[in-house]
Amino acid sequence: MPVVQLEPFGVAIFCEEGETVFAAARRAGVPIPTACGGRARCGLCRVKVLAGEEGLSALNSDERRHLGNTYYLTRLRLSCQAHVHADVTLLVPDAARRKKR
Ligand code: FES
Repeated sequence: MPVVQLEPFGVAIFCEEGETVFAAARRAGVPIPTACGGRARCGLCRVKVLAGEEGLSALNSDERRHLGNTYYLTRLRLSCQAHVHADVTLLVPDAARRKKR
């Protein structure tokens, strides 16, 4: 069972193979911003890959539409489109900003 580690919350979530990061986070009560409920429309659910990027599915066309071709610079993914296949560590950027205030 793969594990998603979400920072800055310090939460480790056991996932079903192929579950989205967004679904796993919601199940664990971790607040990932959304306006579309996980349908790849709003682009608000971005997470930054800190480690284990090979544990996520490849970027799909919806992610490329929202994120452009900058993944290799930003390491940002749409959590609602990133499916978990192995252990990965992610940062929820908006949560990090709120925590600094
Ligand atoms: S939740 Fe809206 S794009 Fe992912």
